[in-house]
Amino acid sequence: LNLRITKNKTVDIPSTLYGYMWEDINQSGDGGLYAELLQNRAFQGVIPGTQAALFGWQPFQGAWLSVTSDTQGVSSALPNSLEVDIPSFVNGPIGFENTGYWGIKVQSGWTYTASFYAKSSTFSGSITASLTSSTTGQVFSTQTLKGINSKWKQFTFQFTPNTTAPDTENVFRITVNGADAQGASIFFGMFSLFPPTFRGRENGMRIDLAEAFAATRPSVWRFPGGNNLEGGSWDTRWKWNETIGPIENRPGRIGDWSYPNTDGLGLLEYLNWAEDLGAEPILGIWAGISIANYSELSSWPVVPEDELKPYVDDAINEIHFITDPAGSSDLAKLREQYGRKEPYALTFIEVGNEDQFQPDSYAAYRWNAFVSAISAEFPHLEFLATTQPSTALNPAYKRIDFHQYAVPQWFHDAAFMFDDYPRNGTKWFIGEYAVTSTNTSCNLGAISCGRLAFPTLEGAAAEAAFMTGMERNSDVVFASAYAPSLQHLRNFQWSPDIMSFTAGTLIKSASYFVQQMFSANRGTQVLETTPASTNDSFPLFWVASHNNKTNAMFLKVSNVGSDDIVFDLSFDFPVGGFGTAITLANPPLTVNSGVFSVANTPEYPEAIVPVSSAFAIVDPTKFNYTFPAQSVTVLSLSVK
Ligand code: AHR
Repeated sequence: LNLRITKNKTVDIPSTLYGYMWEDINQSGDGGLYAELLQNRAFQGVIPGTQAALFGWQPFQGAWLSVTSDTQGVSSALPNSLEVDIPSFVNGPIGFENTGYWGIKVQSGWTYTASFYAKSSTFSGSITASLTSSTTGQVFSTQTLKGINSKWKQFTFQFTPNTTAPDTENVFRITVNGADAQGASIFFGMFSLFPPTFRGRENGMRIDLAEAFAATRPSVWRFPGGNNLEGGSWDTRWKWNETIGPIENRPGRIGDWSYPNTDGLGLLEYLNWAEDLGAEPILGIWAGISIANYSELSSWPVVPEDELKPYVDDAINEIHFITDPAGSSDLAKLREQYGRKEPYALTFIEVGNEDQFQPDSYAAYRWNAFVSAISAEFPHLEFLATTQPSTALNPAYKRIDFHQYAVPQWFHDAAFMFDDYPRNGTKWFIGEYAVTSTNTSCNLGAISCGRLAFPTLEGAAAEAAFMTGMERNSDVVFASAYAPSLQHLRNFQWSPDIMSFTAGTLIKSASYFVQQMFSANRGTQVLETTPASTNDSFPLFWVASHNNKTNAMFLKVSNVGSDDIVFDLSFDFPVGGFGTAITLANPPLTVNSGVFSVANTPEYPEAIVPVSSAFAIVDPTKFNYTFPAQSVTVLSLSVK
């Protein structure tokens, strides 16, 4: 088999080609990327008086706990408090503890910043806070706090453990001396416990997860959803203005994925994070629809045309808040007050999410209402539509967000879907995609029906095949995002996901490595190859590119078949004298203690990892290369 790579450049590769779609799903934000360690820290989105309102909390030595709104909360946004009643006739330490997001990582050398509000009219003694093992009782760090009185007082302090806990079965414990507190009622609110964060940002990101994202060098960050933008009702939609400012000002909301969102990870945190990554934000704005029941689309609440204006105005305010020059408006001043003086760069606005589920109102008035009003105010912005590509919109869309969750074969076939696409100026964002199943009738069904629990090598190779088509046609596909991104293994709603984690672990999937291999090895132009591509009956998919800054050449190849394939590679320009290969493949290239696993799982977290190697190039215009069965390879060559 021959593949000739020429110096002819076919298309410029947009700098936005690879990135992420983000929403709080699977505890990806709260309990995940957002580094806060305490779950249910401010009793947001819960019903006072219920046992469920106490999730994440438990009594220690017989204190009575309840969530109440009968006392004034720490702020108007946070009306719920924790009431702790100390029984009479108790002695010794008594109190309560938070179990974190299914565990708390305690690391020697880290400084943890903790805080909470407390008040009591019946207790004025000292309060002890600690990080403690729930299994052995070992105390890793402790602080004694004084000064509680009848008015809310915030206590802020640090833990500096000098031992690393052997596991994450640790709690954040608050106690008082029972003898001093017999019969007392003590109220608490707005707790927080932060480890060090990525780049030291206050209210920032969990370091290992953030570093894993950053290592793939994403260049777009679509947020805040996804379904989680939309809310189950208009009022529970993601509201930008309730996610900014001091965390005490953020009421939180019932997210679309069945757990409350603290909104600690809010608009400014997302924008800072995108900047830290070097990624362009793709800002999803709420477009007048909430999600009710997927099996009953007619029940979805759509805002009627004559009631839409306040929501359009709200989106305009959000964009003013993000982009107004420093000091030029009240919203710019508010942004500065909340820590950011200069405006953020913003080009892309996505109008809604998956509005193909309600295309009629989208085409009739919702798209038009948002696009015409926002572009009148911000003529430089570019808009992404979220319907089926065939939907006619006014104004006609120039960019569209297309989603696909499917079996491997769909991705093999779709590797060619843009080869003959009309070059009419319309650009695509493949804003959510993943191999989710091995069974076409269960793309998003149950695991028993073929749904993947974790991304498999077969799926990752299929995604890579598709990605060669995206990159080859990146004059049409301007951006892409595997989705969803994170999965807390103790509470998730969707699989597979690109990374899985617990309080103390992180598993990068085969799909993660494919994203990293493609994104971190980017050309600036696609190089012409002969043949350009084959058809889907041939198991090899490829794309070649050149980086005009580094003069490197990349050949990305996915072999989705079950046989090794040798390519006779030739070049009409000299390369050499050695190349490097990154290969993601089955054992024996990646042997995990002799165990074969088709995916990286909690049991075999590193069954499939990329392997790098170097090889000598004797003839600078040609060499043979073997692409292993079911593998993804990136060859990097220097152009002489
Ligand atoms: O990625 C998970 C969900 O899939 C997104 O929230 C939604 O946009 C899509 O249906």
